[in-house]
Amino acid sequence: ALVSMRQLLDHAAEHGYGVPAFNVNNLEQVRAIMEAADATDSPVILQASAGARKYAGAPFLRHLILAAVEEFPHIPVVMHQDHGTSPAVCQRSIQLGFSSVMMDGSLGEDGKTPADYDYNVDVTRRTVEMAHACGVSVEGELGCLGSLETGMAGEEDGIGAEGKLSHDQLLTDPEEAADFVKATGVDALAIAIGTSHGAYKFTRPPTGDTLSIQRIKEIHERIPDTHLVMHGSSSVPQEWLEVINANGGAIPETYGVPVEEIVEGIKHGVRKVNIDTDLRLASTGAVRRFLAENPAEFDPRKFLKLTVSAMKDICIARYEAFGTAGNA
Ligand code: G3H
Ligand code: 13P
Ligand code: NA
Ligand code: ZN
Repeated sequence: ALVSMRQLLDHAAEHGYGVPAFNVNNLEQVRAIMEAADATDSPVILQASAGARKYAGAPFLRHLILAAVEEFPHIPVVMHQDHGTSPAVCQRSIQLGFSSVMMDGSLGEDGKTPADYDYNVDVTRRTVEMAHACGVSVEGELGCLGSLETGMAGEEDGIGAEGKLSHDQLLTDPEEAADFVKATGVDALAIAIGTSHGAYKFTRPPTGDTLSIQRIKEIHERIPDTHLVMHGSSSVPQEWLEVINANGGAIPETYGVPVEEIVEGIKHGVRKVNIDTDLRLASTGAVRRFLAENPAEFDPRKFLKLTVSAMKDICIARYEAFGTAGNA
């Protein structure tokens, strides 16, 4: 059944687990996530970015998600709009039937320019008023996502601040977070704690301090009833980078957020964990390997089927690691 984010994350908070929120653009991703959820008895968050809406079209995405609900009626599913850049964008998604929207007012409407605090409060508060009147949940964002190592937001053509961010911008201020939640009434809050979008988060192998767990604790202490959201939570599996590069790819050395650090964050109030890049890497690896090994094949179902199982394995691993499994 389709449920709101609030409903799902309230349950997660009560029982101390986290829920991966996977980005979806096509049938194969939706199927991989739903099959993994079915196998592990996990609740699901499917989220569509502006890029996904541009690629597939909002009606197609909506119907893919509704098809998931129809085929797996026993699994709670949140249909979430990722990174909305204005109240108008969120309003269109609410009209389409999304059960949750993100109003990302940390950046201006261009999705690139860090916005001031008052602008963020204003657009987020207006979105909450509109969404709550329709039973739809709202995620806000405070702080600027960016790698604590590189200071970069990471996304090239999507959402992300341009240029190098200061250490101050890279960590959400706990006092400001408390004020923001009071002023806007958001259900969930995306915080900056050292993660960035995309595959290029860290240039060196992680040593256990990728995230500021201390900052998560400080924020959670002040706003215990607000569900914390960790964007940029891909782990960038090294085994998939090897498969890609062994079959014609050329991805430079790069590292993501270790799963164990995310699990530590979940112990301190993180409830929604956004993952896109890991599924992209697994898909690309599966396609490259199959086509390299089977140069005479031309039926796309042969390799698309393999993308489903590659992505499904990652989803199962995250559902199990985050404690989502068994909670559908
Ligand atoms: O917010 C970032 C997500 O990875 C979505 O990326 O805009 O390329 O679909 P996208
Ligand atoms: P990754 O690029 O780390 O997968 O993050 C995705 C995300 O935060 C979508 O909002
Ligand atoms: Na989101
Ligand atoms: Zn994000």
